[in-house]
Amino acid sequence: MKTELPLLNLEVNGRAHALEGVPRAATLLHLLRNDLGLNGPKYGCGLGQCGACTVHVDGVAARACVIPAHGVADRSITTLEGLGTKDDWHPVQAAFEEAQAAQCGYCLNGMVMQAAALLTRDPNASEARIRGELSGNLCRCGTHVEILDAVRRAALRMQQQA
Ligand code: FES
Repeated sequence: MKTELPLLNLEVNGRAHALEGVPRAATLLHLLRNDLGLNGPKYGCGLGQCGACTVHVDGVAARACVIPAHGVADRSITTLEGLGTKDDWHPVQAAFEEAQAAQCGYCLNGMVMQAAALLTRDPNASEARIRGELSGNLCRCGTHVEILDAVRRAALRMQQQA
């Protein structure tokens, strides 16, 4: 017997989508990359352990590789593409560019999205809080010093804007 798949309504980067035929097993990451063409979030471990796939769900950082797409129906999703634009970077994106915090760049989506969620909640986050928040985001190039520098610069930018 064929089971009808429910229509999946969700908002991605401020745009409403009504998606048909999304398999129940599809992850949010698969949907974003393969169906919506949003390649900011990266596939790293696929197990919720590296942070490369981080997006915001209703403003909270979340691992898209382990979230069922149907589990975020009617929620608001923000990807790296929705955070800022080339002409109007989010302060975290601007700070990462300023600090030249990328080496291979694969982890950067996760670092930026995780930091942006934290600093939006708390632009005065302590060094310990910043380090703790990013501790689950892995960088195999070892650019942690530059990444932390970028997040501190972003915090200053966001404090000035608050
Ligand atoms: Fe999602 Fe690693 S790809 S946490």
